[in-house]
Amino acid sequence: MAPLTTEDLIPQILQALSSNADPIQSNVVFPQQPFESLKASLDRLSSRSMVTYEQVEREEALLEPEAETIVSHGSHEARVFEAVRKAMSGLSIQELEKEVGDKTVTKLGSGKAFKEKWIKKDGNSIVALVDSINDVTRDQLRTIQEKRTHEPKILADLKKRKLLKMQKIISFKIGKGPKFALELVKEETDLTAEMLASGSWKTATFKPYNFKALGAEQNAGALHPLNKVRHEFRQIFFEMGFTEMPTNQFVESGFWNFDALFVPQQHPARDLQDTFYISDPKTAGRPRAVDPEDKRDYDEYLENVKQVHQNGKFGSIGYRYPWAEEESLRLVLRTHTTSVSAAMLHKLALKSVNGRVPPARYFSIDRVFRNETVDATHLCEFHQVEGVIADYDLTLGGLMEFMDQFFGKMGVTNLMYKPAYNPYTEPSMEIFSYHEGLGKLIEIGNSGMFRPEMLEPMGLPKDLKVFGFGLSLERPTMIKYGISNIRELLGHGVDLMAIQRNPAVRLDKN
Ligand code: PHE
Repeated sequence: MAPLTTEDLIPQILQALSSNADPIQSNVVFPQQPFESLKASLDRLSSRSMVTYEQVEREEALLEPEAETIVSHGSHEARVFEAVRKAMSGLSIQELEKEVGDKTVTKLGSGKAFKEKWIKKDGNSIVALVDSINDVTRDQLRTIQEKRTHEPKILADLKKRKLLKMQKIISFKIGKGPKFALELVKEETDLTAEMLASGSWKTATFKPYNFKALGAEQNAGALHPLNKVRHEFRQIFFEMGFTEMPTNQFVESGFWNFDALFVPQQHPARDLQDTFYISDPKTAGRPRAVDPEDKRDYDEYLENVKQVHQNGKFGSIGYRYPWAEEESLRLVLRTHTTSVSAAMLHKLALKSVNGRVPPARYFSIDRVFRNETVDATHLCEFHQVEGVIADYDLTLGGLMEFMDQFFGKMGVTNLMYKPAYNPYTEPSMEIFSYHEGLGKLIEIGNSGMFRPEMLEPMGLPKDLKVFGFGLSLERPTMIKYGISNIRELLGHGVDLMAIQRNPAVRLDKN
């Protein structure tokens, strides 16, 4: 039988198992089949419990070419004896050689035949001593040719005579398995509605689960690094008792983005070079209550903001410039989320009872827009992390202590503070931290205590103090993921595969 493919071998193995006593030996039943195809077939059958098998290693005796000649022509000594016996009256050495037809065979064979006392010398001729002999060597080799083995002593002797060699043979001992059948049934991989409807599931054979199989790579969605870092920040805020502000509004009026924050209308931040103005529509309506519970007079609030800018009010001398309502109604892409903080603080004043509002902690993490020249560290849009704490008897020391705690929670310690300026906070502080990796102090945030000029027009009590702080989400993300160009983080230059593969982020929280 020529070597077969696994496909062809499988039915033959099953057939052999059903027509022979169990177990069968592959070397006996399929002597011509190579190890690999046998193994592949058996693996397939045994995975379905149709057969059981065991690998058996044996040594087989294999005849050398000389031994093959002995099996067909007889041993040297037998050939010599046969020649002498046939001659009846004896042969000379030369005649014997001629009769046997091979010098070496004659030489070796006669030596052995003399020793066995089958022949003897009689003068110059050689004569037979017996009528017949047993060609033991030939018989042994013949047995070996058939059975590939013999008694160990005989094998050792013949091996020494270089008539055979031993060869390691791997074969299989094959038995029927619990699910033995003559045919390889189709294995179902899924239980289908049709199978349930027809009832064929009852007799179907199901392919067992391969729990070792590697799963197919899923084309699942992946979180952007900014989202991962944002998640960490949110957790810290929640841990510290903050509530998230609604920031789902990219377009603001100049009023909430600037005027309510006591940013004068000539401030360079309000320049076209710094702020994106909306062209259609250009302006917002006047600020008004959105909450039906809010019965406050917004005209009065607007007037107070105007007064505090233009003429001074609430103990402030103001900026003393003509404040224009049209300017405050211009629509902008918000330049910071402090616009949302302003609206939230104004809303907090609504909770005033007998001149007191409850303390509050708000945060937000969302997108802001600035008309910047794009480079490796600047984009026209980025994300701001913003926090606001409103409470009584707050001090600047308290803000610093809070900042130490807040940044400490993400593993940033040894903060340094530098006096700074924001139109809406006084005092204001930039927050720095020494970055081990970069080997220098880097600015990580901006903060301050909101001015009375901002809070009092809102109707918040005088003794309510409000901390505010802001930082970019991009900077810690870039540091965390080792990204040096912001365009690799946001925008069309982002490598989607990198987004898919990048690891989860864990800020080294204390
Ligand atoms: N709005 C500031 C900025 O854009 C951050 C800030 C928020 C500063 C609140 C003080 C108070 O950098």
